[in-house]
Amino acid sequence: MTKQFMAANWKMFKTRQEAEETTRELLSLTATKLPGDREVLLIPPFTSIAAVVETIGSRTGFSVGAQNFYPAESGAYTGEISPGMLLDLGCSFALVGHSERRHLFHEGDDFLARKVSFGLEKGLKIILCIGETLNQRKEGLLETTLSRQLTSALSGISNLDIASRLSLAYEPVWAIGTGEVAGTEDIGEAHNFVRSELKNIFSRGAEEIPILYGGSVKPGNISEIIPLDNVDGVLVGGASLQAEGFSRIVLG
Ligand code: 13P
Repeated sequence: MTKQFMAANWKMFKTRQEAEETTRELLSLTATKLPGDREVLLIPPFTSIAAVVETIGSRTGFSVGAQNFYPAESGAYTGEISPGMLLDLGCSFALVGHSERRHLFHEGDDFLARKVSFGLEKGLKIILCIGETLNQRKEGLLETTLSRQLTSALSGISNLDIASRLSLAYEPVWAIGTGEVAGTEDIGEAHNFVRSELKNIFSRGAEEIPILYGGSVKPGNISEIIPLDNVDGVLVGGASLQAEGFSRIVLG
């Protein structure tokens, strides 16, 4: 059974209480209805991780991840959080390379490669985010950009590391938070390309790496996206903030 991962990236939204309420509502809206092949990934801000983990309790089909971490065990890194601290809180995975980290916080290819290998080494699952800007797409640089982002970020890891611990998220930058969802043809082409690049990078296991789509996913377009080849779930920003809407995406 191939799994579909339905991920909610809450970015810098929600107090602890709001995160708890949204989680509780989501659990109740999906109770008994969550198909066995769907897994819900909640990605709250650091300050709400413990509350969300506690609210989920022993409910199956839900897991909690972090939006970011720093690739060191511990040390004088004011303001940063280590993979060990996240695991200790109950996180099982973390995002790396989200376009907001790349563009607003200037995280470059080499740094992202360090994060991917360090996070995996310390026991986190990693969702590596990649995607082109509008200019790169207009200039015909879609494949070059995705290929560079993949090859560099995955340069430090082996077949052994990826076994069920690496996922990809294709998020075209121009579709994030803009309301402009990529067309199904664009999504299909990009995901097929990502799959073929993964096969070039890894000698085995590439077929099993989930590839999520992100960028203006809503209850109204989920049914067109999920059936596409090489789409193994979605990474949702704005439309994941309300439990009712996100539950329709999760069950859609
Ligand atoms: P939106 O769903 O708000 O476009 O955000 C997508 C995203 O960045 C998820 O990581």
